[in-house]
Amino acid sequence: MIEKGGYIRDILARAPGARIDAFGWVKTRRDGKGIHFIQLQDGSSSQDLQVVVEEGRVPSELMAQVTTGASLRATGELVKSVGAGQAIELHADELQVFGSSDPATYPLQKKGHTMEFLREIQHLRSRSNTFSAVFRVRNALCCAIHKFFQENGFIYFHSPIIATSDAEGAGSMFTATGIDFNHPPRTSDGNVDFSQDFYGKRAFLTVSGQLQAEMAALAFSNVYTFGPCFRAEKSTTPRHLAEFWMIEPEMAFCDLNCCQVLAVRFLKFIIAELLDNCASEIEFFNKRIDNDVLKTLEHVATSDFAHITYTEAIGILETAIKNGRTFEFPVFWGCDLQSEHERHLTEQVFRKPVIVTDYPKEIKAFYMRLNEDGRTVRAMDILTPRIGEIIGGSQREERHDVLVSRIREAGLNEEHYRWYLDLRKFGSVPHSGFGMGLERMMMYVTGMKNIRDVIPCPRSFGAASL
Ligand code: 4AD
Ligand code: MG
Repeated sequence: MIEKGGYIRDILARAPGARIDAFGWVKTRRDGKGIHFIQLQDGSSSQDLQVVVEEGRVPSELMAQVTTGASLRATGELVKSVGAGQAIELHADELQVFGSSDPATYPLQKKGHTMEFLREIQHLRSRSNTFSAVFRVRNALCCAIHKFFQENGFIYFHSPIIATSDAEGAGSMFTATGIDFNHPPRTSDGNVDFSQDFYGKRAFLTVSGQLQAEMAALAFSNVYTFGPCFRAEKSTTPRHLAEFWMIEPEMAFCDLNCCQVLAVRFLKFIIAELLDNCASEIEFFNKRIDNDVLKTLEHVATSDFAHITYTEAIGILETAIKNGRTFEFPVFWGCDLQSEHERHLTEQVFRKPVIVTDYPKEIKAFYMRLNEDGRTVRAMDILTPRIGEIIGGSQREERHDVLVSRIREAGLNEEHYRWYLDLRKFGSVPHSGFGMGLERMMMYVTGMKNIRDVIPCPRSFGAASL
Protein backbone atom coordinates (compact mmCIF):
# COMPACT_ATOMS: atom_id res chain seq x y z
CA MET A 1 0.00 0.00 0.00
CA ILE A 2 1.28 3.47 -0.84
CA GLU A 3 1.01 6.21 1.77
CA LYS A 4 1.12 9.81 0.67
CA GLY A 5 4.38 11.01 2.20
CA GLY A 6 3.23 14.60 2.79
CA TYR A 7 5.69 17.45 2.98
CA ILE A 8 9.37 16.61 2.75
CA ARG A 9 9.75 18.23 6.19
CA ASP A 10 7.48 15.51 7.59
CA ILE A 11 8.98 12.69 5.53
CA LEU A 12 12.42 13.52 6.95
CA ALA A 13 11.05 13.07 10.47
CA ARG A 14 9.55 9.62 9.76
CA ALA A 15 10.89 6.24 10.77
CA PRO A 16 12.29 3.94 8.05
CA GLY A 17 10.14 1.20 6.59
CA ALA A 18 7.13 2.89 5.01
CA ARG A 19 6.42 2.89 1.32
CA ILE A 20 5.57 6.46 0.31
CA ASP A 21 5.09 9.01 -2.46
CA ALA A 22 7.24 12.14 -2.39
CA PHE A 23 6.57 15.17 -4.57
CA GLY A 24 8.94 18.02 -5.38
CA TRP A 25 11.51 19.62 -7.65
CA VAL A 26 14.97 18.29 -8.42
CA LYS A 27 17.64 20.45 -6.86
CA THR A 28 20.55 18.37 -8.03
CA ARG A 29 21.20 14.99 -9.54
CA ARG A 30 24.36 12.99 -9.16
CA ASP A 31 25.13 9.67 -10.85
CA GLY A 32 27.32 7.06 -9.19
CA LYS A 33 28.26 3.63 -10.38
CA GLY A 34 24.97 1.86 -11.04
CA ILE A 35 23.08 4.34 -8.89
CA HIS A 36 21.43 7.78 -9.17
CA PHE A 37 21.07 10.30 -6.34
CA ILE A 38 18.38 12.96 -6.61
CA GLN A 39 18.05 15.83 -4.11
CA LEU A 40 14.34 16.60 -3.99
CA GLN A 41 12.91 19.80 -2.47
CA ASP A 42 9.37 21.05 -1.95
CA GLY A 43 9.95 24.30 -0.02
CA SER A 44 8.86 22.86 3.32
CA SER A 45 12.32 22.42 4.81
CA SER A 46 15.91 23.66 4.61
CA GLN A 47 16.83 20.01 4.06
CA ASP A 48 16.21 18.06 0.85
CA LEU A 49 15.02 14.50 0.57
CA GLN A 50 17.63 12.25 -0.95
CA VAL A 51 16.02 9.94 -3.49
CA VAL A 52 18.13 6.94 -4.51
CA VAL A 53 17.36 5.09 -7.73
CA GLU A 54 19.27 1.97 -8.68
CA GLU A 55 20.18 1.75 -12.33
CA GLY A 56 17.63 -0.23 -14.31
CA ARG A 57 14.85 0.33 -11.78
CA VAL A 58 13.13 2.91 -13.99
CA PRO A 59 13.33 3.16 -17.78
CA SER A 60 16.40 5.11 -18.93
CA GLU A 61 14.28 7.50 -21.06
CA LEU A 62 12.45 8.48 -17.89
CA MET A 63 15.66 8.80 -15.90
CA ALA A 64 16.98 11.14 -18.61
CA GLN A 65 14.18 13.57 -17.81
CA VAL A 66 15.25 13.83 -14.18
CA THR A 67 17.25 17.03 -14.52
CA THR A 68 17.82 20.04 -12.28
CA GLY A 69 14.55 21.94 -11.92
CA ALA A 70 12.27 19.13 -13.12
CA SER A 71 9.18 18.32 -11.04
CA LEU A 72 8.37 14.74 -10.11
CA ARG A 73 6.82 12.13 -7.91
CA ALA A 74 9.12 9.48 -6.49
CA THR A 75 7.65 6.34 -4.96
CA GLY A 76 9.49 3.78 -2.92
CA GLU A 77 10.62 2.74 0.53
CA LEU A 78 12.01 4.98 3.27
CA VAL A 79 15.36 3.59 4.33
CA LYS A 80 17.86 4.59 6.99
CA SER A 81 20.58 6.50 5.17
CA VAL A 82 24.17 5.36 5.30
CA GLY A 83 25.43 8.61 3.72
CA ALA A 84 26.30 11.70 5.72
CA GLY A 85 23.89 14.63 5.86
CA GLN A 86 20.55 12.85 6.24
CA ALA A 87 19.03 10.28 8.56
CA ILE A 88 16.62 8.88 6.03
CA GLU A 89 16.39 8.52 2.26
CA LEU A 90 13.86 7.28 -0.26
CA HIS A 91 14.76 4.24 -2.36
CA ALA A 92 12.55 4.80 -5.37
CA ASP A 93 11.43 2.17 -7.86
CA GLU A 94 8.84 4.36 -9.58
CA LEU A 95 9.15 7.90 -10.92
CA GLN A 96 6.70 10.20 -12.61
CA VAL A 97 8.04 13.38 -14.20
CA PHE A 98 5.41 16.14 -14.37
CA GLY A 99 7.48 18.89 -15.96
CA SER A 100 10.91 18.52 -17.46
CA SER A 101 13.54 21.26 -17.23
CA ASP A 102 16.38 21.96 -19.63
CA PRO A 103 19.54 21.87 -17.50
CA ALA A 104 21.47 23.93 -20.04
CA THR A 105 19.16 26.92 -19.62
CA TYR A 106 17.88 26.45 -16.05
CA PRO A 107 19.22 29.58 -14.33
CA LEU A 108 19.65 28.11 -10.83
CA GLN A 109 22.90 26.20 -10.92
CA LYS A 110 24.52 24.43 -8.02
CA LYS A 111 27.21 27.09 -7.59
CA GLY A 112 26.41 29.99 -5.25
CA HIS A 113 24.71 32.90 -7.02
CA THR A 114 24.94 36.54 -5.99
CA MET A 115 21.86 38.20 -4.48
CA GLU A 116 21.87 40.61 -7.44
CA PHE A 117 21.66 37.74 -9.91
CA LEU A 118 18.92 36.02 -7.92
CA ARG A 119 16.98 39.30 -7.91
CA GLU A 120 16.91 39.06 -11.70
CA ILE A 121 15.20 35.65 -11.54
CA GLN A 122 12.53 36.43 -8.96
CA HIS A 123 10.26 33.81 -10.49
CA LEU A 124 12.73 31.06 -9.59
CA ARG A 125 14.72 32.37 -6.64
CA SER A 126 12.35 30.87 -4.05
CA ARG A 127 13.84 27.49 -4.97
CA SER A 128 17.30 28.55 -3.77
CA ASN A 129 18.30 27.67 -0.19
CA THR A 130 18.47 31.27 0.93
CA PHE A 131 15.12 32.44 -0.44
CA SER A 132 13.36 29.27 0.55
CA ALA A 133 14.43 30.01 4.14
CA VAL A 134 13.63 33.73 3.84
CA PHE A 135 10.04 33.15 2.80
CA ARG A 136 9.41 30.44 5.36
CA VAL A 137 10.60 32.87 8.04
CA ARG A 138 8.40 35.61 6.56
CA ASN A 139 5.42 33.29 6.87
CA ALA A 140 6.29 32.38 10.46
CA LEU A 141 6.84 36.04 11.34
CA CYS A 142 3.37 36.98 10.05
CA CYS A 143 1.83 34.16 12.10
CA ALA A 144 3.70 35.29 15.23
CA ILE A 145 2.46 38.86 14.71
CA HIS A 146 -1.17 37.80 14.44
CA LYS A 147 -0.71 35.46 17.41
CA PHE A 148 0.58 38.26 19.61
CA PHE A 149 -2.30 40.58 18.87
CA GLN A 150 -4.97 37.90 18.95
CA GLU A 151 -3.73 36.61 22.31
CA ASN A 152 -3.87 40.17 23.63
CA GLY A 153 -7.45 40.82 22.52
CA PHE A 154 -6.69 43.16 19.60
CA ILE A 155 -9.17 43.29 16.70
CA TYR A 156 -7.65 42.81 13.23
CA PHE A 157 -9.08 45.75 11.27
CA HIS A 158 -8.64 46.22 7.52
CA SER A 159 -7.70 49.75 6.57
CA PRO A 160 -8.26 50.64 2.91
CA ILE A 161 -5.59 50.36 0.23
CA ILE A 162 -7.15 53.18 -1.76
CA ALA A 163 -7.02 56.28 0.39
CA THR A 164 -8.33 59.80 -0.02
CA SER A 165 -6.15 61.51 2.60
CA ASP A 166 -2.40 61.52 3.18
CA ALA A 167 -1.90 59.64 6.46
CA GLU A 168 1.63 60.91 6.96
CA GLY A 169 1.11 64.37 5.47
CA ALA A 170 4.41 63.87 3.65
CA GLY A 171 3.09 64.07 0.09
CA SER A 172 4.76 60.92 -1.24
CA MET A 173 1.69 59.12 -2.54
CA PHE A 174 0.98 57.24 -5.75
CA THR A 175 -2.22 58.40 -7.43
CA ALA A 176 -4.77 55.60 -7.99
CA THR A 177 -6.75 56.71 -10.99
CA GLY A 178 -9.16 55.50 -13.63
CA ILE A 179 -8.49 58.49 -15.87
CA ASP A 180 -7.69 57.87 -19.54
CA PHE A 181 -4.20 59.33 -19.88
CA ASN A 182 -4.65 60.04 -23.55
CA HIS A 183 -7.77 62.14 -22.94
CA PRO A 184 -7.71 63.40 -19.34
CA PRO A 185 -10.59 65.69 -18.37
CA ARG A 186 -9.31 69.23 -17.68
CA THR A 187 -10.42 72.01 -15.39
CA SER A 188 -10.76 75.53 -16.84
CA ASP A 189 -7.18 76.30 -15.70
CA GLY A 190 -5.78 73.32 -17.59
CA ASN A 191 -5.11 70.92 -14.69
CA VAL A 192 -6.38 67.33 -14.67
CA ASP A 193 -9.95 67.40 -13.35
CA PHE A 194 -10.03 64.70 -10.70
CA SER A 195 -13.67 65.46 -9.92
CA GLN A 196 -14.35 63.43 -13.07
CA ASP A 197 -12.12 60.57 -11.88
CA PHE A 198 -13.44 57.17 -10.71
CA TYR A 199 -14.39 58.28 -7.20
CA GLY A 200 -15.35 61.83 -8.07
CA LYS A 201 -12.17 62.99 -6.38
CA ARG A 202 -8.46 62.29 -6.42
CA ALA A 203 -7.44 59.06 -4.68
CA PHE A 204 -4.11 57.48 -3.77
CA LEU A 205 -2.51 54.23 -2.66
CA THR A 206 -2.29 54.37 1.12
CA VAL A 207 1.01 55.25 2.84
CA SER A 208 -0.28 53.96 6.19
CA GLY A 209 -3.47 52.55 7.69
CA GLN A 210 -3.03 54.56 10.86
CA LEU A 211 -5.81 57.11 10.51
CA GLN A 212 -8.40 54.39 9.93
CA ALA A 213 -6.84 52.34 12.75
CA GLU A 214 -7.46 55.35 15.02
CA MET A 215 -11.08 55.37 13.92
CA ALA A 216 -11.29 51.66 14.84
CA ALA A 217 -9.47 52.06 18.18
CA LEU A 218 -12.10 54.61 19.16
CA ALA A 219 -14.68 51.86 18.81
CA PHE A 220 -12.83 48.65 19.76
CA SER A 221 -10.16 50.00 22.17
CA ASN A 222 -7.30 47.89 20.81
CA VAL A 223 -6.89 47.14 17.11
CA TYR A 224 -4.22 46.44 14.52
CA THR A 225 -3.90 46.68 10.78
CA PHE A 226 -1.55 44.54 8.73
CA GLY A 227 -1.32 45.22 5.04
CA PRO A 228 0.63 46.72 2.18
CA CYS A 229 1.61 50.41 2.15
CA PHE A 230 2.96 52.41 -0.75
CA ARG A 231 5.39 55.30 -0.83
CA ALA A 232 6.44 57.15 -3.95
CA GLU A 233 9.80 58.18 -2.49
CA LYS A 234 12.61 58.16 -5.02
CA SER A 235 14.81 56.28 -2.64
CA THR A 236 17.29 53.59 -3.66
CA THR A 237 18.67 52.67 -0.24
CA PRO A 238 18.77 49.02 0.85
CA ARG A 239 16.11 49.86 3.50
CA HIS A 240 13.34 51.42 1.38
CA LEU A 241 10.68 49.87 -0.78
CA ALA A 242 7.90 51.57 -2.73
CA GLU A 243 5.57 48.74 -1.63
CA PHE A 244 6.09 47.29 1.82
CA TRP A 245 3.95 45.68 4.52
CA MET A 246 3.22 47.42 7.77
CA ILE A 247 1.73 46.28 11.06
CA GLU A 248 -0.01 49.11 12.90
CA PRO A 249 -1.49 48.56 16.36
CA GLU A 250 -3.56 51.40 17.81
CA MET A 251 -4.61 51.57 21.45
CA ALA A 252 -7.25 53.77 23.09
CA PHE A 253 -6.74 54.95 26.69
CA CYS A 254 -3.00 54.54 26.19
CA ASP A 255 -0.23 57.13 26.45
CA LEU A 256 3.28 57.00 25.00
CA ASN A 257 4.61 55.01 27.94
CA CYS A 258 1.98 52.33 27.52
CA CYS A 259 2.75 52.28 23.79
CA GLN A 260 6.47 51.71 24.43
CA VAL A 261 5.76 48.89 26.84
CA LEU A 262 3.54 47.18 24.28
CA ALA A 263 6.08 47.64 21.47
CA VAL A 264 8.85 46.03 23.52
CA ARG A 265 6.62 43.12 24.57
CA PHE A 266 5.60 42.69 20.93
CA LEU A 267 9.18 42.60 19.62
CA LYS A 268 10.32 40.16 22.29
CA PHE A 269 7.34 37.91 21.64
CA ILE A 270 7.76 37.64 17.89
CA ILE A 271 11.50 37.04 18.19
CA ALA A 272 10.96 34.31 20.80
CA GLU A 273 8.38 32.69 18.49
CA LEU A 274 10.85 32.66 15.59
CA LEU A 275 13.61 31.20 17.75
CA ASP A 276 11.16 28.45 18.69
CA ASN A 277 9.58 27.77 15.31
CA CYS A 278 12.31 28.56 12.77
CA ALA A 279 15.39 27.22 14.54
CA SER A 280 16.83 25.55 11.43
CA GLU A 281 16.28 28.63 9.25
CA ILE A 282 17.82 30.98 11.83
CA GLU A 283 20.77 28.61 12.12
CA PHE A 284 21.12 28.73 8.33
CA PHE A 285 21.15 32.56 8.32
CA ASN A 286 23.60 32.60 11.18
CA LYS A 287 25.98 30.34 9.29
CA ARG A 288 25.55 31.68 5.77
CA ILE A 289 24.38 35.29 5.94
CA ASP A 290 25.38 36.96 9.22
CA ASN A 291 27.23 35.29 12.10
CA ASP A 292 25.65 37.65 14.62
CA VAL A 293 21.99 36.91 13.93
CA LEU A 294 21.41 34.26 16.57
CA LYS A 295 23.30 36.12 19.29
CA THR A 296 21.41 39.33 18.49
CA LEU A 297 18.00 37.68 18.59
CA GLU A 298 18.67 35.83 21.83
CA HIS A 299 19.94 39.08 23.31
CA VAL A 300 16.86 41.07 22.25
CA ALA A 301 14.50 38.39 23.55
CA THR A 302 15.99 38.60 27.02
CA SER A 303 17.45 42.06 27.66
CA ASP A 304 16.17 45.61 28.13
CA PHE A 305 16.04 48.30 25.49
CA ALA A 306 17.73 51.67 26.01
CA HIS A 307 15.45 54.73 26.41
CA ILE A 308 16.57 58.24 25.46
CA THR A 309 14.92 61.44 24.28
CA TYR A 310 15.75 63.00 20.93
CA THR A 311 17.48 65.85 22.78
CA GLU A 312 19.68 63.34 24.61
CA ALA A 313 20.42 61.58 21.32
CA ILE A 314 21.62 64.86 19.78
CA GLY A 315 23.78 65.43 22.87
CA ILE A 316 25.40 62.00 22.46
CA LEU A 317 26.05 62.58 18.75
CA GLU A 318 27.55 66.04 19.42
CA THR A 319 29.87 64.56 22.03
CA ALA A 320 30.93 61.88 19.55
CA ILE A 321 31.76 64.60 17.00
CA LYS A 322 33.82 66.47 19.61
CA ASN A 323 35.73 63.24 20.16
CA GLY A 324 36.58 62.93 16.49
CA ARG A 325 33.69 60.91 15.02
CA THR A 326 32.63 62.22 11.61
CA PHE A 327 29.20 61.97 10.01
CA GLU A 328 28.15 62.72 6.45
CA PHE A 329 25.03 64.64 7.60
CA PRO A 330 25.22 67.56 10.06
CA VAL A 331 24.04 67.12 13.64
CA PHE A 332 22.07 69.91 15.35
CA TRP A 333 18.92 70.12 17.46
CA GLY A 334 16.13 69.96 14.89
CA CYS A 335 17.93 67.73 12.35
CA ASP A 336 16.32 64.49 11.25
CA LEU A 337 18.26 61.45 12.49
CA GLN A 338 19.94 59.81 9.52
CA SER A 339 20.75 56.14 9.23
CA GLU A 340 24.42 56.79 10.18
CA HIS A 341 23.29 58.57 13.37
CA GLU A 342 20.87 55.78 14.27
CA ARG A 343 23.57 53.20 13.72
CA HIS A 344 26.06 55.11 15.86
CA LEU A 345 23.57 55.13 18.75
CA THR A 346 22.60 51.47 18.44
CA GLU A 347 25.91 49.93 17.38
CA GLN A 348 28.57 52.07 19.09
CA VAL A 349 26.92 53.61 22.12
CA PHE A 350 24.20 51.28 23.41
CA ARG A 351 24.87 48.05 21.47
CA LYS A 352 21.18 47.13 21.63
CA PRO A 353 17.81 48.48 20.46
CA VAL A 354 17.20 52.09 21.48
CA ILE A 355 13.85 53.83 21.92
CA VAL A 356 14.10 57.52 21.07
CA THR A 357 11.19 59.76 22.12
CA ASP A 358 10.09 63.40 21.97
CA TYR A 359 11.31 64.57 18.58
CA PRO A 360 11.00 68.18 17.32
CA LYS A 361 7.54 68.70 15.86
CA GLU A 362 8.94 70.03 12.58
CA ILE A 363 10.40 66.65 11.59
CA LYS A 364 7.42 64.52 12.59
CA ALA A 365 3.87 64.00 11.31
CA PHE A 366 1.00 66.39 12.11
CA TYR A 367 -0.96 63.86 14.20
CA MET A 368 1.59 63.45 16.99
CA ARG A 369 0.65 64.91 20.38
CA LEU A 370 2.28 68.23 21.12
CA ASN A 371 4.31 68.33 24.35
CA GLU A 372 3.95 71.10 26.95
CA ASP A 373 7.17 72.70 25.65
CA GLY A 374 5.40 73.48 22.35
CA ARG A 375 8.51 72.34 20.40
CA THR A 376 8.50 68.56 20.67
CA VAL A 377 5.94 65.82 20.10
CA ARG A 378 5.20 62.50 21.81
CA ALA A 379 6.94 60.48 19.12
CA MET A 380 8.75 57.22 19.57
CA ASP A 381 11.11 55.48 17.16
CA ILE A 382 12.66 52.12 17.92
CA LEU A 383 16.11 51.81 16.40
CA THR A 384 18.07 48.59 16.11
CA PRO A 385 21.68 47.83 15.27
CA ARG A 386 22.28 47.22 11.51
CA ILE A 387 18.80 48.35 10.43
CA GLY A 388 18.17 51.67 12.18
CA GLU A 389 14.46 52.52 12.46
CA ILE A 390 12.30 49.42 12.67
CA ILE A 391 9.29 50.97 14.42
CA GLY A 392 7.85 54.48 14.28
CA GLY A 393 4.99 55.52 16.53
CA SER A 394 3.52 58.14 18.79
CA GLN A 395 0.82 59.29 21.14
CA ARG A 396 -1.80 60.98 18.96
CA GLU A 397 -3.05 64.53 19.29
CA GLU A 398 -6.51 64.00 20.77
CA ARG A 399 -7.32 67.71 21.35
CA HIS A 400 -9.50 69.00 18.53
CA ASP A 401 -8.26 72.58 18.41
CA VAL A 402 -4.58 71.70 18.73
CA LEU A 403 -4.98 69.17 15.90
CA VAL A 404 -6.67 71.75 13.67
CA SER A 405 -3.77 74.14 14.11
CA ARG A 406 -1.21 71.35 13.50
CA ILE A 407 -2.98 70.44 10.23
CA ARG A 408 -2.94 74.09 9.17
CA GLU A 409 0.71 74.51 10.19
CA ALA A 410 1.61 71.49 8.06
CA GLY A 411 -0.08 73.14 5.08
CA LEU A 412 -2.57 70.28 4.68
CA ASN A 413 -6.11 70.55 3.37
CA GLU A 414 -8.37 70.54 6.45
CA GLU A 415 -11.28 69.26 4.35
CA HIS A 416 -9.50 65.93 3.74
CA TYR A 417 -9.25 65.36 7.50
CA ARG A 418 -12.83 66.33 8.44
CA TRP A 419 -13.73 62.80 9.58
CA TYR A 420 -10.43 62.47 11.46
CA LEU A 421 -11.12 65.72 13.30
CA ASP A 422 -14.63 64.49 14.03
CA LEU A 423 -13.15 61.67 16.12
CA ARG A 424 -11.83 64.42 18.42
CA LYS A 425 -15.34 65.78 18.85
CA PHE A 426 -17.21 62.64 19.87
CA GLY A 427 -15.60 60.86 22.79
CA SER A 428 -11.97 61.64 22.11
CA VAL A 429 -9.47 59.75 24.28
CA PRO A 430 -5.73 59.69 24.78
CA HIS A 431 -4.51 57.06 22.33
CA SER A 432 -1.29 55.80 20.83
CA GLY A 433 0.07 53.39 18.27
CA PHE A 434 3.02 52.46 16.16
CA GLY A 435 3.95 50.99 12.81
CA MET A 436 6.48 48.24 12.23
CA GLY A 437 7.79 47.62 8.74
CA LEU A 438 7.54 43.87 8.11
CA GLU A 439 10.53 43.89 5.75
CA ARG A 440 12.72 45.89 8.16
CA MET A 441 11.94 43.26 10.80
CA MET A 442 12.69 40.52 8.27
CA MET A 443 16.11 42.05 7.62
CA TYR A 444 16.73 42.14 11.35
CA VAL A 445 15.84 38.51 12.00
CA THR A 446 17.52 37.02 8.93
CA GLY A 447 20.58 39.23 8.60
CA MET A 448 19.72 39.81 4.93
CA LYS A 449 21.41 43.03 3.80
CA ASN A 450 18.98 44.31 1.18
CA ILE A 451 15.28 44.90 1.74
CA ARG A 452 14.60 43.75 -1.84
CA ASP A 453 15.61 40.25 -0.74
CA VAL A 454 13.02 39.77 1.99
CA ILE A 455 9.85 40.41 -0.07
CA PRO A 456 8.84 38.10 -2.95
CA CYS A 457 8.37 40.78 -5.60
CA PRO A 458 10.17 43.98 -4.58
CA ARG A 459 9.06 47.34 -5.95
CA SER A 460 11.48 50.22 -5.53
CA PHE A 461 12.42 53.36 -7.40
CA GLY A 462 13.29 52.31 -10.95
CA ALA A 463 12.60 48.61 -10.39
CA ALA A 464 9.57 46.33 -10.58
CA SER A 465 9.58 42.98 -12.29
CA LEU A 466 7.01 40.18 -12.31
O1 4AD B 1 7.70 55.84 10.61
P1 4AD B 1 6.59 55.55 9.64
O2 4AD B 1 6.51 56.38 8.42
O3 4AD B 1 5.26 55.66 10.51
C1 4AD B 1 4.00 55.54 10.06
O4 4AD B 1 3.68 55.29 8.93
C2 4AD B 1 2.97 55.64 11.15
N1 4AD B 1 1.68 55.88 10.51
C3 4AD B 1 2.97 54.40 11.97
C4 4AD B 1 2.00 54.46 13.11
O5 4AD B 1 2.23 55.16 14.06
N2 4AD B 1 0.90 53.72 13.02
O6 4AD B 1 6.64 54.04 9.20
C5 4AD B 1 6.60 53.00 10.16
C6 4AD B 1 7.59 51.91 9.84
C7 4AD B 1 9.04 52.37 9.83
O7 4AD B 1 9.57 52.38 11.12
C8 4AD B 1 9.67 51.32 8.95
O8 4AD B 1 9.90 50.13 9.68
C9 4AD B 1 8.58 51.04 7.94
O9 4AD B 1 7.36 51.41 8.52
N3 4AD B 1 8.77 51.80 6.69
C10 4AD B 1 9.27 51.29 5.55
N4 4AD B 1 9.72 50.07 5.24
C11 4AD B 1 10.17 49.85 4.00
N5 4AD B 1 10.19 50.80 3.03
C12 4AD B 1 9.74 52.06 3.28
N6 4AD B 1 9.75 52.98 2.32
C13 4AD B 1 9.26 52.35 4.60
N7 4AD B 1 8.76 53.45 5.19
C14 4AD B 1 8.46 53.10 6.45
MG1 MG C 1 9.37 56.94 10.79
